[in-house]
Amino acid sequence: MVIEKISFVDKLSEVGSVVVGAYADASLSKNAAAIDEKFHGIISKNLKKMSFSGKLFESAHFTAIDGPLNHFVLVGLGDTGKKFTEFELEKLGAKIYDCVAELDSDATVAINTQDIDFPCNCASSFLGFGMLLKSWNFDKYKSKKNEKIKLRNVSLLTPDVQKSTEYFSELQKLADGIFLARRVVSEPANVIYPESLARIAKEELSPLGVDVEILGRSSMQKLGMNALLGVAQGSSLEPQLVILRWNGGNEAEKPIVFVGKGVTFDSGGISLKPGDGMHEMRYDMAGSGTVLGLLKAVAANKLPANVVGLMALVENMPSGTAQRPGDIVKSMSGQTIEVLNTDAEGRLVLADALWYAQDRFSPKAMIDLATLTGAIVVSLGHEFAGLFSNSDELVHQIVRSSDKTGEKVWRMPMTEHFDKGINSEIADMQNIAKSNIRGGSITAAQFLKRFVNNVDWAHLDIAGVEHTSDDLFVCAKGATGFGVHLLYEFLKEMTAIR
Ligand code: BES
Ligand code: MN
Ligand code: ZN
Repeated sequence: MVIEKISFVDKLSEVGSVVVGAYADASLSKNAAAIDEKFHGIISKNLKKMSFSGKLFESAHFTAIDGPLNHFVLVGLGDTGKKFTEFELEKLGAKIYDCVAELDSDATVAINTQDIDFPCNCASSFLGFGMLLKSWNFDKYKSKKNEKIKLRNVSLLTPDVQKSTEYFSELQKLADGIFLARRVVSEPANVIYPESLARIAKEELSPLGVDVEILGRSSMQKLGMNALLGVAQGSSLEPQLVILRWNGGNEAEKPIVFVGKGVTFDSGGISLKPGDGMHEMRYDMAGSGTVLGLLKAVAANKLPANVVGLMALVENMPSGTAQRPGDIVKSMSGQTIEVLNTDAEGRLVLADALWYAQDRFSPKAMIDLATLTGAIVVSLGHEFAGLFSNSDELVHQIVRSSDKTGEKVWRMPMTEHFDKGINSEIADMQNIAKSNIRGGSITAAQFLKRFVNNVDWAHLDIAGVEHTSDDLFVCAKGATGFGVHLLYEFLKEMTAIR
């Protein structure tokens, strides 16, 4: 369960647990020393007995025998004088959450700019944000919740209550966007399908002032989106194209468009996937989940930017009406595609969504997110998303935001060699590369590039990072919401409001 209440205070509330910091030379931080003195040296006495060195992210706790507090928690702050980044503070917050979650229902965190080097009196806002991110999990379908988690209320000690509260209110709304993305990605495919996800988008975003438009099959037929519709035709569920518009910028300013692959279940279609692990293909709408969460964060924080989100929602199923390997479809762009493998469906869906995006919105830039290829997991594992782009500048901007938020990206190459690999004998292109051309993530990206019409564009292949089977620093096992924070930061930088 997510922490119920996070507040900022300038006095220690003497209930539950208190979290303090110590450095790598085992000396106590300023706040820790003050608390130690107040409680007659209890921290320094215990510190000597414990094997705790104060290395960054190291932790230890002990139980208070008498006095108003139940537990003292020590967290390592590393070398004295170390400069902290926002992401390091978030990680520290997540670490603190792990330490205190099972101890008490109340915790006070007494680590802030008096203890660490951070350029603003709002270090505790980022600690709170990290705690919040780590506290989220998906236990909706568990009749019995994890009863070990006790933590409900967190107070963070800060020298500037107003500033910390202000900063945190933005981060809280960003977290809500991340949680929305995690939630819809976590839900199974019998709950999240094109129409239900479109409905959630409308319910979540309309009240925030986002313009939500939903196109169904017949509208898409009129637009000539046969590449997308071909993928959907084996399913009994109607495909949806959800268009989310946030007009926070000047009217004349071209929007930045985000396009999310939203295959609510990818069975592979007639080119059926093997049974092992097929259930994971309920995550194949993660790109759309991120776009949804991003627009929520953008609108809730009223970013002064024009932002469009497109969620291209289909289910890929085998059936008597399903698309066959070898079928040829004419995309909205007019280019024809030979569908040699119905499991390479993401690029077919995105082909029409990207074309539509540039055609309707003449964007300043477009960024798509897609769980596009298994090959990207071979290349980059679960650590990095693959970044492909036709614009060096866009790459630099995304990499800069990535450095700040800790959601890692790695630029991959795109060349004519890989582009040629998708030429078809009988149509304009084929949806999988010729067998002598390897680099499956690159050929997939080259395919997308044929539908961006030279607009500045970046593609994030998030197949390896959209969920995690390990407990990560700021995310428990399950859907990560990858990209919401990264692209929120990207938009902030673009609009230069910080
Ligand atoms: N959704 C999958 C990609 C995927 C694989 C995501 C593993 C997450 C984990 C995509 O639609 C797909 O099936 N891609 C094929 C492409 C191939 C047929 C050229 C793949 O990667 O195997
Ligand atoms: Mn597939
Ligand atoms: Zn897929």
